[in-house]
Amino acid sequence: MALAPAYDEPSNPPVHVAIIMDGNGRWAKARGLPRFAGHQRGAEAVREAVEGASSLGIRYLTLYAFSSENWKRPETEVNDLMGLLRVYVNRELADLHRNDVRLRFIGDHAALPSDIQNLITGAQDRTRDNSGLNLVIALNYGGHNEIVNACRELASEVKAGRIEPGEIDELAFAAHLSTNGIPDPDLLIRTSGEQRLSNFLPWQLAYSELAFVDTLWPDFTQEHLAKAVADFQKRERRYGATTA
Ligand code: IPE
Ligand code: IPE
Ligand code: MG
Repeated sequence: MALAPAYDEPSNPPVHVAIIMDGNGRWAKARGLPRFAGHQRGAEAVREAVEGASSLGIRYLTLYAFSSENWKRPETEVNDLMGLLRVYVNRELADLHRNDVRLRFIGDHAALPSDIQNLITGAQDRTRDNSGLNLVIALNYGGHNEIVNACRELASEVKAGRIEPGEIDELAFAAHLSTNGIPDPDLLIRTSGEQRLSNFLPWQLAYSELAFVDTLWPDFTQEHLAKAVADFQKRERRYGATTA
């Protein structure tokens, strides 16, 4: 878990870093390999990100693993991605647990194969009391759907007479999102040069700093993470106020 030598340990790391892990397909294509090879290498890069985040003192790392739109891909690719998730969790869980990582999954899990639902529940339960890095995996996650669900839940509470419409404020709303209890990301990184959110955490990223890096996800290393964090630390966050 060595820190990249080119960067000093930051004194004030972001609390929460979210990453859109993009570019697996292009990584494979550039090498004349099937897309699966890119996803396989992409899963290895997850270890780099987790170790890097732990070394840098980041408290929450959220990784976009599968979007609610990714079902549009060919069935074989969807199956490959689900298969890699199985392999990753089964292979890494013991290590993550030993390293005090707490795992949490966000997204609509009802649509996932039942063994994956069990894997998720098991991993969350096993690591529930860990106090190291909080690793959040967004799986079958879609931001619009998350917001609509929150509205439904709040509407039901109003209908049942438990709350008044006027009591719904930003805090109450956020409590109905899947990220309840998790601070909003300070920094969003998207790899592969694409500059869009692709339905990732639209509510939570409202005031995040954005970093779009050209590196394809399978090539992403702890050094890339350290560089993005160092760049983040040079930025001034204003939240609409004037400069100091
Ligand atoms: C990201 O890589 C992995 C997932 C979306 C699951 P892509 O598969 O999107 O790779 P590109 O964008 O086609 O290169
Ligand atoms: C976003 O990447 C989803 C994940 C990284 C899991 P995509 O590759 O699916 O996004 P688009 O289709 O380019 O917007
Ligand atoms: Mg992509």
